[in-house]
Amino acid sequence: MRIIMSQSKEEAIKVVADMILERVQSHPTSVIGLATGKTMEPVYQTLVAESKKNRVDYSKAFFFMLDEYLGLPLDHPSSFKVYIQTHLMHPLDLKPSQFAFPPVHAESPAEAGAHYEQSLKESGGVDLQILGIGTNGHIGFNEPGSLKTSRTRLVHLTRETIAANKSEFKHGSFPETALSMGIGTILDSRSVVLLATGKSKADAIKFLLNHHDVADCPATYLKDHPHFTLVLDPEAASKINLKI
Ligand code: GLP
Repeated sequence: MRIIMSQSKEEAIKVVADMILERVQSHPTSVIGLATGKTMEPVYQTLVAESKKNRVDYSKAFFFMLDEYLGLPLDHPSSFKVYIQTHLMHPLDLKPSQFAFPPVHAESPAEAGAHYEQSLKESGGVDLQILGIGTNGHIGFNEPGSLKTSRTRLVHLTRETIAANKSEFKHGSFPETALSMGIGTILDSRSVVLLATGKSKADAIKFLLNHHDVADCPATYLKDHPHFTLVLDPEAASKINLKI
């Protein structure tokens, strides 16, 4: 595991945006896995600005979304699909055909999961997976208790996750289930970058750094990945007390 301790939130955001930009510049056909959430909004804002400045060509890149709520009408304003359209696809003029979304409108969630796994396989796999972290240590929507071998599947959201994300959900009631790439799916990515910013993530980061393979904090599973980078701002790193 590589840890990048940034001097400011802005620096942490820039580090992650640059990783995506540099990956696509050096490998234009890259497959990138994208996360949503408040942490990622400034990352995409920076990525869009830097990409325009550097005239980065994204036409051969492909993107897989990490997760999506189940049971929402198509193009619901709080869906992760609309999130990524708003923050990345439209500002960079990317084509819808360059994105894969968990097929939440498939007949059965089991088939939807298998279908997404098949699409990931056919793409050649994710080169760079971007992740945030929940206050309870979840990654994607892999809540505490998720298995290390889990694949894309229907997941039930915890009360903590629903409370943390409620402010983002202005239309209708909050969904209690989602389709999420599994831990095993994420670990198959060739490299993984997790960004944590802000005080609310400090406990999860402290736990992550002091533990290994703990189902109660699914982010701990990432530590075995050979190319895992953790990017922290000073607030997220404020409770680190490494037991070395
Ligand atoms: C959400 C998403 C995750 C995200 C995490 C943190 O529920 N499913 O992909 O990383 O929780 O969100 P935020 O960045 O808003 O704190």
